Amino acid sequence: MTARHFLQFKDFSRAELEYLFHRARVIKDKFKRYETHHPLFDRTLVMIFEKASTRTRLSFEAGMQQLGGSAIYLNTRDSQLGRGEPTEDSAEVISRMSDLVMIRTFEQSIIERFAAHSRVPVINGLTNEYHPCQILADIFTFIEHRGAIEGKTVAWVGDSNNMCNTWLQAAEVLNFKVHVSTPPGYELDPELVRVEGNPHLQVFKDPMEACRDAHLVTTDVWTSMGFEAENEARIKAFADWCVDAEMMKIAAPDAVFMHCLPAHRGEEVTAEVIDGPQSVVWDEAENRMHAQKALMEFLLLGRVEN
Ligand code: CP
Ligand code: NVA
Repeated sequence: MTARHFLQFKDFSRAELEYLFHRARVIKDKFKRYETHHPLFDRTLVMIFEKASTRTRLSFEAGMQQLGGSAIYLNTRDSQLGRGEPTEDSAEVISRMSDLVMIRTFEQSIIERFAAHSRVPVINGLTNEYHPCQILADIFTFIEHRGAIEGKTVAWVGDSNNMCNTWLQAAEVLNFKVHVSTPPGYELDPELVRVEGNPHLQVFKDPMEACRDAHLVTTDVWTSMGFEAENEARIKAFADWCVDAEMMKIAAPDAVFMHCLPAHRGEEVTAEVIDGPQSVVWDEAENRMHAQKALMEFLLLGRVEN
């Protein structure tokens, strides 16, 4: 049987995602009660990082340990991964010694090639194109704070990056709307997301208009990992795409603010907003762990009751 992977958000059906949100709640409650929950006893997760990380590494490593398993960290600097060993060969070897693999890398095609040669499930821990684990945690966080996301509006202000692409995938699977405002020259890539005739997407020139009546306002760094050479040009181009108090005011009165972190106060968001009462960024970060514990359990054991 071929392994089930989580390489893009749309790899899972709405019913499976709803199960994961429910399961993340159960697992989070157990964690808060200090209840031992070791369904993945003796299982091994290998985490491959080709880019930096704080939250993703921590949430997967702590999460796997809390599920009774263990996690091994590999990076390109001190493994053969950085010395030109073919991705396909690495996948064959790594997946013979582990039960689950999480990869943070550059092009989506790398993780797809790895998955095609892996005997075990592969999880996307961020690529240039997508960040599905983050959106899983973000929607779980929205549900915790405001209830179902179906029919709601998410305002995306800033770069049309991996986070933005994944929000748009989620909108199609879970039936909500995304308002996107990017600076000229940084628009959505129609090769990655459905732009024409997408009933879940509305594009705005003015970031203020994108935020009007939104239930969730969110943004991300102007320069993602791997695009550092463009930083100077981006700082100039994105100056008006900073989420500020005015944008939060035009959003729905009970709108929440999210940011996947790390954040740059004074660039993509003001300190007033990210440190303000509508911000749920710390819950969002914590929920990475609970949501991914549900994801790992599901990929290895399927649906469980206890
Ligand atoms: N949000 C997120 O993925 O954070 P890290 O880069 O710290 O893993
Ligand atoms: N878009 C950002 C997210 C970091 C978690 C990046 O890819 O660097």
